[in-house]
Amino acid sequence: MKVIIVTGTPGTGKSFISRQMAKKLGYSHIELSKFVKERRLFDRFDKASKSYVVDEKKLVAALKRYFKNHLSKGFIVDGHMSHFLPTKIVNKAIVCKSPLKVIKSRLKARHYSKSKIRENLDAEIFNVCYEEALEAGHKPIVFDGKNLPSLLKRLRL
Ligand SMILES: Nc1ncnc2c1ncn2[C@@H]1O[C@H](COP(=O)(O)OP(=O)(O)OP(=O)(O)O)[C@@H](O)[C@H]1O
Ligand SMILES: [Mg+2]
Repeated sequence: MKVIIVTGTPGTGKSFISRQMAKKLGYSHIELSKFVKERRLFDRFDKASKSYVVDEKKLVAALKRYFKNHLSKGFIVDGHMSHFLPTKIVNKAIVCKSPLKVIKSRLKARHYSKSKIRENLDAEIFNVCYEEALEAGHKPIVFDGKNLPSLLKRLRL
């Protein structure tokens, strides 16, 4: 059983590519935001950022349980917090990147507030997900959303 994490700034195309990869590889796709909401794996709502603060320990424990209880060739864990999964349970790490203007228009289409869009564009400029993934000990593969067959080759599964 393999675990592939797909991280990156919101709007970079994680879910888009994760769905295609799951289909191609015959893996299960776990969308972390849904997974967290369904299981209430957050500990509070942060008014300033208007978002739930995820309890990382609970999230990792719930994912481990999920992997154990669901028979699958592999799992694609899709979300901008997926790089917080410990390296010992992750086989491959992908960081999605997209041009700033593309992210901007995607987030605008979702009616994100100006400040939320700015925050996400800054995160993309500073490569936050990539740097955090490195810091956590992953060896991230950067993907620009353009060539799935070449990404699958680079994964060397
Ligand atoms: N490679 C691509 N080609 C064409 N459209 C794309 C591509 N990647 C993403 N999109 C489109 O961009 C939008 C945002 O993509 P997606 O939902 O996959 O982002 P995300 O990284 O999963 O965001 P979030 O972190 O908020 O879940 C979607 O409407 C999707 O269809
Ligand atoms: Mg998504």
